[in-house]
Amino acid sequence: MIPLERCRDQLEHLGLTQAAQALDHTLEVAARKEWSYAEFLQDLLGVEAQARRERYLRTRTRLAHLPYRRTLEDFDFAFQPSVDERQIRELATLAFVHEAANVLLLGPPGVGKTHLAVALGLKAIEQGQGVYFVRAHNLLEDLARAQAEHRLDRRMRVYLAPKVLIIDEFGVWPCDRIATTALFTLISARYERGSIILTSNKGFAEWGEVLGDAVVATAILDRLMHHSHVINIRGESYRLREKRRAGMLTSVTATDAQPR
Ligand SMILES: Nc1ncnc2c1ncn2[C@@H]1O[C@H](COP(=O)(O)OP(=O)(O)O)[C@@H](O)[C@H]1O
Ligand SMILES: [Mg+2]
Repeated sequence: MIPLERCRDQLEHLGLTQAAQALDHTLEVAARKEWSYAEFLQDLLGVEAQARRERYLRTRTRLAHLPYRRTLEDFDFAFQPSVDERQIRELATLAFVHEAANVLLLGPPGVGKTHLAVALGLKAIEQGQGVYFVRAHNLLEDLARAQAEHRLDRRMRVYLAPKVLIIDEFGVWPCDRIATTALFTLISARYERGSIILTSNKGFAEWGEVLGDAVVATAILDRLMHHSHVINIRGESYRLREKRRAGMLTSVTATDAQPR
């Protein structure tokens, strides 16, 4: 067996499959550019390291259950002036994750709450933090079911383990007694231990109504807000603007609001 083939075999045997595949090409470039041995090795190992990082990020992203892929770069801050770009950039440093602080994104539908939550989640994944995304309704349904089946503790671990838990669309559906208790247990258990990014279309004043219990609502909000960044988004729905632009929707004032 010639040395080159043996090298390839050994790289594969060691699990360095990307380096094995890149070997021929890297050798050729090294010869052409007259690289030193160290430069050659650095390049070859770099190919493997890069491939591994990409694989790692893909796996972490899949495990996070994000509903879509949106980044901060995709977010048009000019469209949503009530969002302070500097504050979001500061959050993107993930200092809040290291402090186990929470981020509460509030506002009407379509203003970019989920988009920003997902974008911060992706940043956290890039930094090697565990992230898990769940809709509030599914989360509470899941915990209620687990409790009925006497396996709440085990199920709760799914939501306690990730450094960042994204709870989306809280408040769209009212919570019954069991859901409210489960939420309280979860928020208390994560308190000062892991971050929650929560999006909601309800203001804090409405939480009592959503949870069906003003006292528990206060207790939950107290823990959530103790270390938190609140982002209140007031503005137009991005989705509706897109539609309006495409001519699918004429101005609301022109069609609906005027008497005939
Ligand atoms: N300022 C923005 N710049 C770019 N895309 C936006 C912006 N705001 C919202 N979007 C897009 O509009 C859609 C709805 O936003 P989303 O975050 O899901 O809204 P919600 O506030 O209801 O969670 C998504 O596709 C999102 O990427
Ligand atoms: Mg949303």
